[in-house]
Amino acid sequence: MKFPPGFIWGAATSSYQIEGAAYHGGGGHSIWDMFGRHEGRIINGDTGEWACDHVNRYAEDVVLMADLGLQAYRFSVSWPRVLPAGVGTINQRGLDFYDRLVDALLANNIEPWLTLFHWDFPHELYCRGGWLNRASADWFADFTQIIVARLSDRVTHWCTLNEPQVYIGLGHHQGSHAPGMPMAFGEALRAAHNTLLAHGKAVQVIRAGAHKAPVISASHAGNFFMPAGDNPVDIEAARARNFAIGEKNFFNNSWFSDPMVLGNYPEDGLELFAADMPEIRAGDMATICQPLDYFGANIYWGRYGRATREQDFELVEAERFARTDLDWPVTPEVLYWAPKFYHQRYALPLVVTENGMANADAVTDGMVDDEARIEFMNRYLYEYGRAIADGVPCLGYITWSLLDNFEWAEGYAKRFGIIHVDYPTQQRTLKQSAHWYRAVIADNAVSQYQPARQRMASA
Ligand code: FCB
Repeated sequence: MKFPPGFIWGAATSSYQIEGAAYHGGGGHSIWDMFGRHEGRIINGDTGEWACDHVNRYAEDVVLMADLGLQAYRFSVSWPRVLPAGVGTINQRGLDFYDRLVDALLANNIEPWLTLFHWDFPHELYCRGGWLNRASADWFADFTQIIVARLSDRVTHWCTLNEPQVYIGLGHHQGSHAPGMPMAFGEALRAAHNTLLAHGKAVQVIRAGAHKAPVISASHAGNFFMPAGDNPVDIEAARARNFAIGEKNFFNNSWFSDPMVLGNYPEDGLELFAADMPEIRAGDMATICQPLDYFGANIYWGRYGRATREQDFELVEAERFARTDLDWPVTPEVLYWAPKFYHQRYALPLVVTENGMANADAVTDGMVDDEARIEFMNRYLYEYGRAIADGVPCLGYITWSLLDNFEWAEGYAKRFGIIHVDYPTQQRTLKQSAHWYRAVIADNAVSQYQPARQRMASA
């Protein structure tokens, strides 16, 4: 399966998950620092205090990226590292770090793909209401302005927000992620509206101020549904189910992306959420809906189902899927269907900005044999290639993650990296999947999955 010429291969991380806490480097506290100090919130009492110590080891990490032939590196900027109070005085050491990182990437022919917000919200601004405060959109725009002024002579790829579905849904509604304060649904909807305004304002700031022509998007988490067969009725039912809002929560595929791309909240959501809707001021939807250059999708797994007589969608139970170490089912076809359905709805080219798996990896004799991850990536990429062959315009694939890292409420026990990190020594070891990925990038192609022994025999 060949990928199109110019297709971009990358790997992703995020600031809090790999850098080490911002306040060690003159930055401020983030809501994740505070969350980790409450007992029982994070498995094993883990925190992002030191994580992969990437702030001090970034040069070594960039060498590893170059060794793999990565063409893009998606990382995020820690807002409190740059602005300890979220607004106001800049921590120059923090800003300088990203400057050096970007230079190191470019010196190695790796395109920096910069995410402005990947969940480490400044604690000081949380104390002023966080996303509940409408001013948060301007705070974020001001932060964006600082990053654009400093880095846009070299950075062209910008992602505003990573997965509002998750930091609003888990962070502000359920409370299992930072800030960890379950809010009433109406409050969470207000936070969601403000974060959407922040997205729109940030896009405006980037377009107005970038020194180099920017490529802009946001990255969305999804709750995906796939047809159990290739019957057109099932396909249509699955498509409709992907964008329907049937429950009062944030795990759907339209509440955030419809406003960003289409300029309105989805009708069914507006109806279901009517009693809880926050004030929407004149001009808000226009602010939120800014031209985007592609649709960023974080895609991990989906569910199968089929159409019912009532043209509804019913899940097919009892499918036996392999499961990852996070207990997520392995469903490669989601990388065929989700891009297809997203493209039909939003008519934007697509980039898979995250995809990967947690695996119980260990170093044995200097090697990490993660055949399960090779199989996962291979099967998923093959399906992605099929979507592209069907005509869905897809620009790239960015795997989650470059390094094992701090997996939020799961702590360090869940390993998503293609590079193993031994936390006590901070030693990095390329897993077998990293070697495999290097070959995929070099070939710009994947073949159908074959177990290791067969691969070696036919090599
Ligand atoms: C996504 C997050 C990312 C990582 C992966 C496994 O929801 O964006 O930070 O935790 O899941």
